[in-house]
Amino acid sequence: MKQQLISRQATVDQVIQQQLAALPQDAPRLRDAMHHAALLGGKRIRPFLVYETGRMLGATDQQLTPAAAAIEYVHAYSLTHDDLPAMDNDALRRGQPTCHVAFDEATAILAGDALQTLAFEVLSQADQLSAECRIALIQQLSRASGYLGMCGGQAMDIAATDQQISLPQLKAIHSAKTGALIRAAVRMGAIIGNASAEVTGKLDNYAKAIGLAFQVQDDILDVTSDTKTLGKPQGSDSELNKSTYPVLLGLEGAQQHASSLLDEALHALQGLPYNSDNLAEFARFVVQRSR
Ligand code: IPE
Ligand code: IPE
Ligand code: MG
Ligand code: MG
Ligand code: MG
Repeated sequence: MKQQLISRQATVDQVIQQQLAALPQDAPRLRDAMHHAALLGGKRIRPFLVYETGRMLGATDQQLTPAAAAIEYVHAYSLTHDDLPAMDNDALRRGQPTCHVAFDEATAILAGDALQTLAFEVLSQADQLSAECRIALIQQLSRASGYLGMCGGQAMDIAATDQQISLPQLKAIHSAKTGALIRAAVRMGAIIGNASAEVTGKLDNYAKAIGLAFQVQDDILDVTSDTKTLGKPQGSDSELNKSTYPVLLGLEGAQQHASSLLDEALHALQGLPYNSDNLAEFARFVVQRSR
């Protein structure tokens, strides 16, 4: 799995590198900050899901690459803003100083904004895809990023800080702030691969389960891992008194929950008329990963 992630990472990094290098030099500090936010480290799991889902359905890498890059831009923007002093106020990301520390707050805000809009520019310009397909991709990604997805989830996360919340409320937060983009990655692969409604439904169930499991494991690692391995500050959640799965269920309860989400994900893949081994392997990686 690690090997596969690394080889996918190289493909998408090359594209991101080229796209950022093609930006004119008018605002070099902003361009450098975008490069810092998008390219220095990161697992590239959302591009991986776009590629693996699409490939499974018969799409080519050339068709899938714009969606893979676009979702990574949105993710990089979300991390850049998540780390800002007004949000989680973290100084380390992917083993590097966070964007606002390496540059400054205004530049980090703008880098996030510009990465976000670049995502949609890339999708709109992907002339290897039909106009209909491009619109469907833009719709998926914009929904998953905005009020109904990541931004709404981040707002709920902030509102739940220092609060006692219920498990259904926490599930709603995690499904939105992290799950939505992971669902969008799978959905975008399915759109490009022309999946039937039935296949899309099964893939959606898979994506919902791994999307939630991904954030459950992120919360677990905030407790159990260390800053060096994570490349971001261990204990950030408890320092901020965040609502997390380990807080609500205890560490073991959270681990059990992650493992039942893995079962759900694997179950959803059963009966797909395609070879879904890589997606199954990815689901295992989500709950076994150490960073
Ligand atoms: C971290 O995402 C933030 C969450 C949504 C949990 P990743 O764990 O995918 O971060 P990178 O891209 O690998 O750094
Ligand atoms: C953030 O969740 C998810 C995003 C939408 C960026 P976290 O705040 O837990 O992510 P990390 O732990 O800082 O990567
Ligand atoms: Mg956060
Ligand atoms: Mg954070
Ligand atoms: Mg976290």
